[in-house]
Amino acid sequence: MSVAAAARLLRNARHATAFTGAGISVESGIPPFRGVDGLWNNYDPRCLDIGYFHAHPEDAWRVIKELFYDFFGSAHPNDAHRSLAVLEQDGIVKALITQNIDNLHQEAGSRTVFEFHGSSRQLLCLACGARRSAQTIDLSTLPPRCGCGGILKPDFVFFGESIPEEASRLSFAEAERADVFLLIGTTGEVMPACLIPEEAKRRGATIIEINTEPSNYTGRISDIFLRGKATELMRALLGEMGLRDRLPPPPLP
Ligand code: APR
Repeated sequence: MSVAAAARLLRNARHATAFTGAGISVESGIPPFRGVDGLWNNYDPRCLDIGYFHAHPEDAWRVIKELFYDFFGSAHPNDAHRSLAVLEQDGIVKALITQNIDNLHQEAGSRTVFEFHGSSRQLLCLACGARRSAQTIDLSTLPPRCGCGGILKPDFVFFGESIPEEASRLSFAEAERADVFLLIGTTGEVMPACLIPEEAKRRGATIIEINTEPSNYTGRISDIFLRGKATELMRALLGEMGLRDRLPPPPLP
């Protein structure tokens, strides 16, 4: 099976849904969590455990700031993010479920985005429940505090926390109605997000997977496995669909 076959499936889809993981943002300079350059090789995932955060907010914030706030501002959408926005604008991709918290899909122009793990954009006060834009909060003193004195926590899902109810409901509804499911850049290791592609398959969807390495889905539920970088394969897919010129030209060197 090839890029041409995947392009035909997407073109003829009744309801195509995209599902993305950290791999789609690697070429924007954001490291993945697992694999050779995975963040969890160098950082303790405990910093994202909700129990640890409550017990040691300052220590947790020190790592969280380094991982998610020191460089996020400098990461920009790449052609894989932009290609999904083009496919949505052309009515081919109806919705996008992402495990990522980097907001790059929205910055690329995607509109129907379900953030299954929340987003780094806002901070939530653990005392009064107020949400504040992360960009307005001074992170030079940790943990950051709300005007009410409460500790502020990133508004994304920590290990041990439940998935935002609306994002969960909408994402599994997509899995039920999609006839083509485009998986990009995920190991498929984290529950319950990893169940969404499984449910789509169970409901009869054809699974197209893009990844630089085989994942938990490859050779099992993926009908087409396109091995390679998300930007290169998404550009090739758009090329097969006559949409390549909808991407902006590459930046001058
Ligand atoms: N193009 C396509 N795929 C890529 C690229 C690339 N340029 N670079 C890496 N990948 C693939 C890797 O092969 C791997 O399968 O992206 C995947 C990244 O896997 P993870 O780091 O495990 O990311 P993800 O599957 O999204 O993790 C799920 O784990 O820690 C939690 O909450 C965190 O949302 C995250 C969840």
